[in-house]
Amino acid sequence: MTTNFFNLVEDQIVQVEALMKLQVKGHHPHLYVVLDHLVSSGGKRVRPAVALLMGKMLGAKNERLLKLAASIEMLHTATLVHDDLIDGSLLRRGIPTLNAQWSPAATVLAGDYMFARAAELAAQTNSVDVMRLFAETLATIVNGEIIQMFSSRGIASREDYYQRIYAKTASMFVLATQSAAILGSGDDEIVAAVHQYGYEIGMAFQIVDDILDFTGQQSTVGKPVASDLRQGLVTLPAIYYQEAHPDDEDMAAVLRGEYNHEKRMIRLVDAIRASGAIQQALDEAKQFVGRGLKMLENIPDSIERQALYEIGSYIVDRQV
Ligand code: IPE
Ligand code: IPE
Ligand code: MG
Ligand code: MG
Repeated sequence: MTTNFFNLVEDQIVQVEALMKLQVKGHHPHLYVVLDHLVSSGGKRVRPAVALLMGKMLGAKNERLLKLAASIEMLHTATLVHDDLIDGSLLRRGIPTLNAQWSPAATVLAGDYMFARAAELAAQTNSVDVMRLFAETLATIVNGEIIQMFSSRGIASREDYYQRIYAKTASMFVLATQSAAILGSGDDEIVAAVHQYGYEIGMAFQIVDDILDFTGQQSTVGKPVASDLRQGLVTLPAIYYQEAHPDDEDMAAVLRGEYNHEKRMIRLVDAIRASGAIQQALDEAKQFVGRGLKMLENIPDSIERQALYEIGSYIVDRQV
């Protein structure tokens, strides 16, 4: 990543990655190999960047902030390990997923181990409030995944969609911003603003992820594309498409639970790609970002605040 906001925390991100790798000392060598592989596989590091910038802006101590950022990125990585297993995804960050190489049982255990290490890092911030928020967020994420699995397939409702993306993604951005505020200082108003910033950019981040599932190339995004609908997951572009084309037979089939008709699926994905639904979803992501950036207005200016503004544009402009 070459954007300016990232340069500001580049050195700290290197330390965050080192902290993540340190978490496997004294355990089974297989765990080391796996964790080393996952941590080295890159990833955009957006969540730790947000936490670091926010914490710096609010005067948090660097050492605790690094622990927090490492904990959040470890939590994120663990959710991806389980997510790819659940989705049967074989590629992530351009390389084979753990479940492409290991049995489901071993993959689950490696993910569990990483959740545990993420919690340990959260504890190293020495803040009970951060630990509580960490635990609550993990519960929100898992509950969201369960709702998605049992009751969200084939549902084209915006309300349902917003709840899902809050649970799976925005909640973790809130964890990043809110915890950074806890470790730093700020009055209630600043803490509330920072919370809201995390929520809005997190929602936008997932909407863009859902757009890239339609518009991206596997070789660029490093993970399989056009995969959400195939699993019955109706995301914002598909919802807008459905609203504009209520008579689309192939969409109706998806909503009835028929995801396996490959020809129909290809036609539907192409139709959504070519429709105005993509732009509508992007406009909505931009609105979320706009509301998030507004939250920064009452915070004193700093280079970190400037970088947090840039993250907003980065999130909606990204192709990866
Ligand atoms: C992927 O997150 C999962 C989502 C919540 C969209 P990222 O797009 O941040 O994945 P990496 O860490 O950069 O690979
Ligand atoms: C994954 O969301 C979010 C969590 C792991 C909680 P997605 O399923 O949209 O992420 P990708 O597209 O596989 O990265
Ligand atoms: Mg997935
Ligand atoms: Mg996705």
